[in-house]
Amino acid sequence: MSGVHPAWLGGLGGGSGLGDDVVLTRDPLCGLEAEAYTIARSGGVTTVVAADEAGLMYGSFHALRLDGELAAQTHRPFVARRMVQHWDNVFVHPVMGQVERGYSGGSLFWEDGALTDDLDRVGDYARLLASVGINAVSLNNVNVHAGEARLLTDRLSEVAALAARFRQYHIRVYLSVSFAAPMVLGGLDTADPADERVKDWWATATQRVYATIPDFGGYVVKADSEGQPGPFAYGRTHADGANVLAAALAPFGGEVYWRAFVYNHRQDWRDRSTDRARAAYDHFTPLDGEFAANVVLQVKHGPIDFQPREPVSPVLLSMPRTSLAVEFQATQEYTGQQRHVCYLPPMWSSVLSTVAGAVDAVVTVSNAGDDRYWTNHPLAQANLYAAGRLAWDPALDPTALLDEWIGLTFPPAAAGVVHELMRDSWAVYEGYTSPLGVGFMVHPGDHYGPDVDGYEYSRWGTYHFADRDGVGVDRTRATGTGFTGQYPQPLADEHESLATCPDELLLFFHHVPYTHVLHSGKTVIQHIYDTHFQGAAAVAEMVGRWAALPPETVGEDLHARVADRLREQERSANEWRDQINTYFHRKSGIPDAQGRRIY
Ligand code: GCU
Repeated sequence: MSGVHPAWLGGLGGGSGLGDDVVLTRDPLCGLEAEAYTIARSGGVTTVVAADEAGLMYGSFHALRLDGELAAQTHRPFVARRMVQHWDNVFVHPVMGQVERGYSGGSLFWEDGALTDDLDRVGDYARLLASVGINAVSLNNVNVHAGEARLLTDRLSEVAALAARFRQYHIRVYLSVSFAAPMVLGGLDTADPADERVKDWWATATQRVYATIPDFGGYVVKADSEGQPGPFAYGRTHADGANVLAAALAPFGGEVYWRAFVYNHRQDWRDRSTDRARAAYDHFTPLDGEFAANVVLQVKHGPIDFQPREPVSPVLLSMPRTSLAVEFQATQEYTGQQRHVCYLPPMWSSVLSTVAGAVDAVVTVSNAGDDRYWTNHPLAQANLYAAGRLAWDPALDPTALLDEWIGLTFPPAAAGVVHELMRDSWAVYEGYTSPLGVGFMVHPGDHYGPDVDGYEYSRWGTYHFADRDGVGVDRTRATGTGFTGQYPQPLADEHESLATCPDELLLFFHHVPYTHVLHSGKTVIQHIYDTHFQGAAAVAEMVGRWAALPPETVGEDLHARVADRLREQERSANEWRDQINTYFHRKSGIPDAQGRRIY
């Protein structure tokens, strides 16, 4: 196929960035697996060989990143399933807006009830995702409201129009569906997975989908979670529920991504026996081995909900007979909402270093919208970029990926500043927000900004238990909720013991006095003061660094956008610093050893 201009490049030379010095060879007999490619560059000529079109495409995108000579290397994806999920609504939701937890403007796919008329932008987005190795996208919110449920039936032509754009880049399209669809759409009086009429309804609906979109990927399901319908209403298990949808999809090679985010969201804060961190494991591990082969159990990377710091979910280490997906959140719900710089790949990479061998899929909740920079904060693009690259190869170094993205995005004169702003930005964010893994000291509802007790007496199961003596959640086997026992060894013992529990997770697993001495040698209270002063000071420095970069280096508009977001980050970081420090000073009565200003 050398010399042909494949659709996914928009024509060689013309806008693709690939020059005549790139030779693409598709050779079905080359011995490479699906999506894999061999790339080399010598004497100024790059050669890419693959057995299939997708491999050739990934190799071409690699060619765009190349700089200098390269001895032949073969690249193959670590997992076959690399998905981006959108929480987009078709209709503007009264509380959640067009995109649930979306901070980048409206949806790329729908505009207030109708399919976008800018399908070219969708094509550009598909190219962007493919360039980093993403091969699956689910289009709509996991909370499926009535209007959105109809994407599966009478609005299918819209899904087909989007699928046509994604197909050009070897990306398959998925839909979030409601477990109650047989009732909501089919007029049945039940969604019981054991009912024959329900099975038939799913089979027929799915046949229609494949008649319209033959390469449709499958369904994403949030069931029995935060008010969504599910199999519990009928006394059935989640395996019963997932397997009905899986049976409907199996004849067409489709898959169900079934979410493990199931917990009691109507907890009584007085009830100390219920621990939200335990919920996914308690619900799902007894079902290991019971899911159909085309069900992928999709598990959030931590046991609670995308906090700036959580331990790895034990579910990911405990279901060897189930296909598993790890779910990351690029949309920065709890990590600054794309107003704060927070480069997340160091977090994802550390999760992947623990679970990579156990997962079959990597799923990332998208942070992109119809904003002109895609992600509101222009620097937040790096999270989407690296999410794809890490799904392809979890061993890639997050800092190297950052530099790769910077090199493709900014002129050399800006590279150093952007690198300095971003490299440690997750640690900086963690520093000025909730300390030592305790999480959820955010403003209820919108989850932006500090509110230490905002969730303390709520129904959501996210408590820190701070009193005058200490803070943290006792999740030990010895005296707490027993959550540490859900981990395999050596993690179970490591988390259980104060002697071995890592500082950054201390308050996730233990309730300790403010005077408890960390491995770092500091007391908990002094750590809280120090990290909050340091975190906010680091943001002030970032503001100065960016201001010192001449705007024309990156373009005035982009410079102004980043400057504006940095000002908000600085304001917010100061607010976090002062509220957290004041709160813990008042609770503990212990002064800051350095006598800094606390209110
Ligand atoms: C979080 C988020 C919700 C979302 C949910 C989920 O709780 O706040 O908006 O629906 O995660 O992942 O399903």
